[in-house]
Amino acid sequence: MISSDIEKVLLTEEQIEQRCIELAQQIERDYEEEGTVPIIVGLLKGSIPFMAELIKRFTFPCEIDFMSVSSYDGTESIGDVRIEKDMDLSTKSRSVLVVEDIVDTGRTLAEVKKMFFNKGATDVKIVSLLDKPDRRVVDIEADYIGFTVPNEFVVGYGLDFNQKYRNLPFIGVLKPEIYE
Ligand code: IMP
Repeated sequence: MISSDIEKVLLTEEQIEQRCIELAQQIERDYEEEGTVPIIVGLLKGSIPFMAELIKRFTFPCEIDFMSVSSYDGTESIGDVRIEKDMDLSTKSRSVLVVEDIVDTGRTLAEVKKMFFNKGATDVKIVSLLDKPDRRVVDIEADYIGFTVPNEFVVGYGLDFNQKYRNLPFIGVLKPEIYE
């Protein structure tokens, strides 16, 4: 049982689902006011459960896509953002909503945002399930944040440790003996 590796639960499935409903309503209202419909781009693999939860609450016609960038190896940032898998859809002259699991140092999102503008996107907004502001090294904030979390390594609801624990339906902190 992977849940036995968890020291404490930070956010329950119910809390996350409720927050996703609120976020989706707020995001939809904002795009309606702007009169634009974004392409929704999930960053693989951590955004998958959050993206699924979010997009089913939208009522506008969603175009979704995914890309994979990597900056992480285990619990340490290696500070090097690579595009491992690019999108299929073009974002030229479109607004883009990037869906991310967590903003940590901010390096990934800063690079991804720059890349979308370079590719001709007219607007790039970010929605992140979690924010860890204490760890920021790049001056970037998500436009929409589900929850702010303390400076601890968290797993579950898409977030992994060495590719495991993404399938936990809650956000938790691992027991230290698992990653030490
Ligand atoms: P950043 O570029 O440092 O902001 O890192 C963003 C990426 O690092 C996220 O998309 C996650 O994949 C990973 N990451 C950062 N903090 C955690 C964590 O606490 N648990 C699991 N993955 C994390």
